Amino acid sequence: MGHSRVLIGVGGGIAAYKVCEVVSSLAKAGADVRVILTEGAQRFVTPLTLATLSRHAAYTDVDFWQASHGRPLHIDLGEWAEVFLIAPLTANTLAKLAHGLADNLLTNTVLASTCPLLLAPAMNTDMWEQPTVQRNWAQLSAQARIHTVGPGEGLLACDRTGAGRMAEPTEILSHLESLRYTHGRRDLGGKHLLISAGSTREFLDPVRFIGNPSTGKMGVALALAAQHRGATVTLVHGPMEPSLLRSLPGIRHGVRAIATPTADTMQQQLIAHLPQANWVVMAAAVADVKPTTCYSTKLPKADLPSQLPLSPVPDIVAELGRQRQPQQRLIGFAAQTGDIVSPALDKLKHKGLDAIAANPIDQPASGFGTDTNQAILLDRQGRRREVAPGSKLAMAHQLYDFVLEMEDPSET
Ligand code: C5P
Repeated sequence: MGHSRVLIGVGGGIAAYKVCEVVSSLAKAGADVRVILTEGAQRFVTPLTLATLSRHAAYTDVDFWQASHGRPLHIDLGEWAEVFLIAPLTANTLAKLAHGLADNLLTNTVLASTCPLLLAPAMNTDMWEQPTVQRNWAQLSAQARIHTVGPGEGLLACDRTGAGRMAEPTEILSHLESLRYTHGRRDLGGKHLLISAGSTREFLDPVRFIGNPSTGKMGVALALAAQHRGATVTLVHGPMEPSLLRSLPGIRHGVRAIATPTADTMQQQLIAHLPQANWVVMAAAVADVKPTTCYSTKLPKADLPSQLPLSPVPDIVAELGRQRQPQQRLIGFAAQTGDIVSPALDKLKHKGLDAIAANPIDQPASGFGTDTNQAILLDRQGRRREVAPGSKLAMAHQLYDFVLEMEDPSET
């Protein structure tokens, strides 16, 4: 994404070293980055590290008290920022923000800014679980401009395993990308999205299956984009890389993930969750066929049939199309080679969808397993919109905009 202006406040916690990677990635991607370090932060990382990575001077409280700036630095930085990240957010800075205190450059700049503010707390589990910390966190998180990422659970540098681990840099980066796209809009607030992701495996025996190369990255991007815009998400997914699953914020933060290995189990779960869903986004690449017989023990090589009898798996989205209520939105994907539009229009009509993303899988930088994608979005009102090649997260946001702009279903 272009030259967005990202302001980053670094607090005094060991996770400060991970923020160096966030700064580096943003600068490499072409963002303008400015960094503020608290006193404590400078015990863990130096202004020199962050200035070098951000390609700009990094600010400390010494700069705050200098007369030479003319205009107060916190006002300048506060007005400059398009999006503001504080990571790691310590218990101390969290308490100050909850109470509106302003005793250093970072907290003054928070009060002098109005852009979306993304908070990434990190602290020891006992500190995080203190009732005062939880109260401060609940108060802050309820504010409209505040967005939160983490903390997760895991092994902490203090050798405790529990809550308080700062969100991973990739999670922070994707949340920032969303905020730069939405400017903090929570226009999916109050909505429940049911999203399917990844491939399915149709087993012949415990070691052999029919599948496809879908990794689930598009579905995870859809889940994250929805959660960043305020939705709660149920993600029903086929086999996925554990690292990809870990990038989901977890139940507490609005995404619930349910693993389903086969088309049959995916259908069961999607139908079970359909009544609660406002929108269903069917991004999974479901295998179209399964071996007619599934053996419970491994077939010896010599017993493998030379021809495999196949049966169709349920067309899940078509079944969801039959069971849906008129006010629910149903969105499909059409992964295609060659002409992508006419088969997608056909599926839109025959599967009872509201909208479909026609997705070329034979183009560079799109399709299975890549971090980028492109599509032509189509809806049953005849609209058509191209999504230029970009990140899967950016495509997810454009798809949501497209669906939000559909006319009210009760009026059509
Ligand atoms: O017919 P095709 O598989 O190309 O349609 C793609 C769309 O249908 C996707 O949204 C996919 O998730 C869905 N689908 C399904 N059940 C199947 C096959 C595809 O829901 N058995």
